[in-house]
Amino acid sequence: MAVDTVLEKSVLRLVSGGGWRAVLVFVALAASAAVLLASFSTSTSAPAWFSIYSSSSISSASARPPVTTPAAVEPSGGVKVAPLWAYGVDLQLLDAKEQIARAPPLPNDSDLHAPLSYELMEKILKVYVYKEGEKPLCHTPELTGIYASEGWFMKQLEENKQFVVHDPDKAHLFYLPYSSRQLRTHLYVPDSHSMQPLSIFLRDYVNLIAAKFPFWNRTKGSDHFLVACHDWVPRFLPLIRRRGITFPMIFRLLLLLQGTYTTKLHEELRRNAIKVVCNADVSEGIFLRGKDVALPETYVKTPKDLHKDVGGRPASRRNIFAFFAGQMHGRVRPVLVQQWKGKDSDMKIYEKLPAAVARRMSYVEHMKSSRFCICPMGYEVNSPRIVEAIHYECVPVIIADNFVLPFEELLDWTAFSVVVPEKDIPNLKKILKGISERRYKRMQSNVKKLQRHFLWNSKPVKYDLFHMILHSVWFNRLNQMNTKA
Ligand SMILES: *[C@@H]1O[C@H](CO)[C@@H](O)[C@H](O)[C@H]1NC(C)=O
Ligand SMILES: *[C@@H]1O[C@H](CO)[C@@H](O)[C@H](O)[C@H]1NC(C)=O
Repeated sequence: MAVDTVLEKSVLRLVSGGGWRAVLVFVALAASAAVLLASFSTSTSAPAWFSIYSSSSISSASARPPVTTPAAVEPSGGVKVAPLWAYGVDLQLLDAKEQIARAPPLPNDSDLHAPLSYELMEKILKVYVYKEGEKPLCHTPELTGIYASEGWFMKQLEENKQFVVHDPDKAHLFYLPYSSRQLRTHLYVPDSHSMQPLSIFLRDYVNLIAAKFPFWNRTKGSDHFLVACHDWVPRFLPLIRRRGITFPMIFRLLLLLQGTYTTKLHEELRRNAIKVVCNADVSEGIFLRGKDVALPETYVKTPKDLHKDVGGRPASRRNIFAFFAGQMHGRVRPVLVQQWKGKDSDMKIYEKLPAAVARRMSYVEHMKSSRFCICPMGYEVNSPRIVEAIHYECVPVIIADNFVLPFEELLDWTAFSVVVPEKDIPNLKKILKGISERRYKRMQSNVKKLQRHFLWNSKPVKYDLFHMILHSVWFNRLNQMNTKA
């Protein structure tokens, strides 16, 4: 259920109950929401829209991390240091990191021909996939629907011959092959509003591999990664309903419950492991930019035909100025619809696409014929529309404060998308009209150029979505090398 609806209902219920507490709850909710939303501001400096690719910047590799010091292993207790046998893989990572840090920036307008970090990944990276974990919770990819990214990644990594090693001693990264969708299907108790069974499963799973293998403990999980796409909303309704909640407590609860994630019961999993998730929201204090990875949400309708419908009209034949149709999930869409629905013939903003409109032109045709495709967040900051827009060669307009865009270490999103702060929804048309025709055409052609980075292939090909995700994990692991053991 939409968190907004839940909130609205609970507030209404409280108000109709007549208590003064209801008013306080409402004020507190509004104020907390404002605090949460206000922290983001987009940079307004001149965009480098002429080049799609940003040159990778990696945190300085000047100081050697303590983990690589080939000190003797303390056999009992005492200081934890990396055992000697790990030195080889860590050295390889540090060496790669230094090469990347020293590399000159890519020339402007270059194609993604050879960013060094990508080439080094292909040359060096080895990943170990744990065999542990029962089906269907583990090793069972879900390949259809809006959460299919995690499934395709799991399937393609488990089948991979180039990166996967059978000898974990040779691995730079360790993959935890569970499926958040399967966990939800098999462990979540409907209407319980509790993610506890899922959290318990994950805690026990990590404890199992930490007990069975030496690798987790060696780095306290920082070279382990999980890949999960979901949009579970914080469940604070039951707590708000409970009696005795005071005004200042609401603030704390809201902030705390924002982070009710399934990794919470395992401290090292939550803090150290690389979380590859669709909900890349930095405001919740769980997703850390530069360590965790934004996973593009991709809506896979036909797993047998992954490129069905890809393509769209050329810029000159896109005669809808801006388009959105969809359900009223999350905090942004109702505001967008209230502001623009039926108000301006340039702004084709709908809730669900009305049947009468859809009969003349389908949703997909709308996307293929629009100059700008509005991608407001859903329940969470992510939305499958962004990748959808790219597939239909429509310039995405992203409205989701605090959202970390996928592949930002390689892609310059200002070259092919527009990010609009939530507070600027009233100025949406003005902002989009302010983009010159020349620049628009460039952006639209950039969308077409980089489409391949957002496509699954039945067998992965260079620079496709599978490789881009793996690159982000590799890149962020390198990024962490001098700070974390
Ligand atoms: C590349 O673009 C930047 C602006 O983002 C500009 O300052 C720089 O001079 C350009 N470099 C080349 C080689 O054209
Ligand atoms: C890793 O650490 C945990 C917790 O300290 C411990 O229970 C486990 O046995 C350790 N694993 C190995 C392989 O030593």
